[in-house]
Parts: sequence; structure tokens; C-alpha cells
Amino acid sequence: MLRHVVIWKLKEDVADLAAVKAGIRTSLEGLVGTVPGLLRAKVYADGADARDVLLEAYLVSRDALAAYAAHPAHVAAAETFVKPFVASRTAFDFDGGTELDELIYERRSIRAFKPEPPPRELVDEVVKAGLLAPTGRNKQSTVVIRLDDPAIREAVRAKNEEIRGAPPAGRVNDPFYAAPVMLLVVANKANDTAVYDGSLALGNMMLKAHELGLAACWIHRAKPEIDSPLGRTILDRAGLVGDYEGVGHLALGYAACPLPAPHPYNPARYRAV
Ligand SMILES: Cc1cc2nc3c(=O)[nH]c(=O)nc-3n(C[C@H](O)[C@H](O)[C@H](O)COP(=O)(O)O)c2cc1C
Repeated sequence: MLRHVVIWKLKEDVADLAAVKAGIRTSLEGLVGTVPGLLRAKVYADGADARDVLLEAYLVSRDALAAYAAHPAHVAAAETFVKPFVASRTAFDFDGGTELDELIYERRSIRAFKPEPPPRELVDEVVKAGLLAPTGRNKQSTVVIRLDDPAIREAVRAKNEEIRGAPPAGRVNDPFYAAPVMLLVVANKANDTAVYDGSLALGNMMLKAHELGLAACWIHRAKPEIDSPLGRTILDRAGLVGDYEGVGHLALGYAACPLPAPHPYNPARYRAV
């Protein structure tokens, strides 16, 4: 994949900057789906200098960039909406995937945390990413509960130890690896997609955590925990009425170890019939 970044400085005599910027944005972003090999195009025009406009595009290859440059739809957009208004242009092209590619590739489960908690705003961002995950029929069945109360945290830790038994070889005894933040994802059983919904939420949260420089690990056993009297206490304390499925926990914080290398995946897991 190729990242193609262009920075334009608009001419001093452009009077209606907003209209010109809108024209650049609409015409260039609209090329996705028209120009083969153009995967994504985003125009940013809210920088400190009102005359700066930036295009960030992703193309499948350098050959696709050459084809994009010559494509009639791109030429027409450039001639009509960009060139007449531009004083100068700088471009960068570099190999590499999108940030999401990198995050998906690099993310790993971390099982050693620093004691310092991350700022609340970052935790909130992680939770928001979970709440934005798709849910069956958009019933938004998932709820994320941040476990703040030291007594609840200790009870959850102990319950998980009890359910798990002895730790797997080479792992510390604490099922949450002393993570300073403990999140619990539950989903309303009234929705038959509850477990799927909650799993997607946790997937989003792990990726978001990695993007924000945080470490995370899915900690299981939320189902038996929520089905126990402790679970009812937690649901009651969170103000949740009704039947909830415990989907999983997220141990969250700053890593106290280096990020392990990415996992290879078995390509035979992709089939077609
Ligand atoms: C459904 C599910 C349950 C998991 N439960 C635990 C757990 O209880 N404790 C733990 O240390 N890791 C747990 N993990 C993390 C997996 O062990 C880990 O994702 C897997 O080994 C792949 O490693 P990676 O996440 O670094 O790619 C769980 C992951 C998933 C998806």
C-alpha cells in the first residue's frame, strides 16, 4: 500500500476560502470508487493557516498512483477544483499501510502493567471505542462497567482466581496482572446477539488502547462471575436491571514490558467454497 500526501498553499487572492476548500474536498474524496486502486482519500483544511489544504490518500501501489495521476476523473477534478486556486504544492509518497493496518498488525495482549493509572480521558476514549462497535439491530446491548471501588476490584480478582484455579505455567497469580484499570463488558440477554455485541466492543477497545499507547488484555470468566451473587451486586451497583451476560473484562494500563512481536497467522484459515 502507498500513502500519498499532498500539501497545498492556496493563493492569497482566493476570496471564498470555504467554498474552494469544499470544492477540493468533495471532488478529491469523491474519486474513491471511481479511480481504480484509490482506496481512501481525506482532505483536511482546518489547519492553523487558513490557506493550507492537505490530502491524505491511500493507493494499492506506486503503479496505482501513476494511474490515478493520469485518470480522467482525477485530471478533471484537479483542473477544475484545485489548480486554479493553488499557489504552491508539496507531495510525499511513502510505502506502508494505514494506521489501522499497523494497529491490527502490532496489537498484542500485555500481561504486565505499571502501577500508574492512565489518565481518565484515555480510559474514556477506550470505552467510547467499545460503545461505538456495531451491535445486532443496533440494540446497543453492551454496557461497559469501570470497576473503581477497591472492594469490588478485590472481589472480582478473587472470584476470577477461584474460577480459574491455578494460573497457567509461567503466569503470575493475579488474573488481572495488577492492571490499574479493570473494565467489565456485559450485554443485555434480551438481545440474542449479546455475546457477539460484547465481543466486538472488546475488540474495538483493545485496538483503541493500542492506538493510545496503552496496554490491554482480555480477561475471561466474566460469564460465571456475572452469574454469581457478586455479579448481581455489580449489576445492581451499576444500576442495571434485568438479565445480563458477562462477556469479558479488559485489563488496561501502561505496559511494564516490551511489546511482543506480531503473531504470524495461518493463511489456511481463509477459505472459499
Ligand atoms: C475470548 C478471549 C478470552 C481471553 N481470555 C484471557 C484470559 O483470561 N487471560 C489472559 O491472560 N488472556 C486472555 N485472552 C488473550 C489471549 O490469550 C490472546 O489474545 C491470544 O493468546 C493471542 O495473543 P495476542 O492477543 O497477543 O495476539 C483472551 C482472549 C480472548 C479473545
